[in-house]
Amino acid sequence: MTSASPWIPVALSADIEAGTSAGTLVNGEERVVWRDDKGEIHVWEDRCPHRGMRMSFGFVRGDHIACLYHGWRYDTGGQCRYIPAHPDLDVPQTIKVPTFAATERAGIIWMAPEGADAAALSTLHETAEAVRSLYLALSTNAALLAVTGAPPEGYSPVPGAPDTVTLQGNNATVLIAAQPRDTSRTALHITVSGNSSAATRRTLALWAIDLRNRLEAQTSEAA
Ligand code: FES
Repeated sequence: MTSASPWIPVALSADIEAGTSAGTLVNGEERVVWRDDKGEIHVWEDRCPHRGMRMSFGFVRGDHIACLYHGWRYDTGGQCRYIPAHPDLDVPQTIKVPTFAATERAGIIWMAPEGADAAALSTLHETAEAVRSLYLALSTNAALLAVTGAPPEGYSPVPGAPDTVTLQGNNATVLIAAQPRDTSRTALHITVSGNSSAATRRTLALWAIDLRNRLEAQTSEAA
């Protein structure tokens, strides 16, 4: 959602359980998405300020992440609170991981610059069931065009937010939100609301896999 909203989708909510983290790429930059023990979601730069280890390799322990390399611990605000090699040190406020605003809407985790207003996402359904994420070797525009050009049978595109495709059909609303991993790679996060039965989700997941296979076949034919 780059043109009208600062919010970028980074993962399916269902894929980041409490106490876990995952690294991802957003516009070529490494980010860590993690969920604390209270269920709150966080998105940070994926780099420890000490020696640059990826935070996504670390361990979520309650309400903080401990870096894999030397165990420095960071609270939910990204502030380092404890350095094992110097247990009595009052850690300087300057040792902090850059953080982003993070929220969840329509079954998807979204990030934006700190201070962004989540009202920009209010047109989306509040909750939705996960279908799957699809990773494509295409630019964001090309990936969204491929979706609208070949929607699942019985579903039609309807106007929606920028950098997303909304499909309606079979008493369901399907949201396909595009995460620009870099200029030539895109992740599509797919959720469904309304008729979100297991059969509907399975049909949509099979459509997504078929779409990816067809796009990959086209790419190898062109090579
Ligand atoms: S690199 Fe993270 S604690 Fe040293």
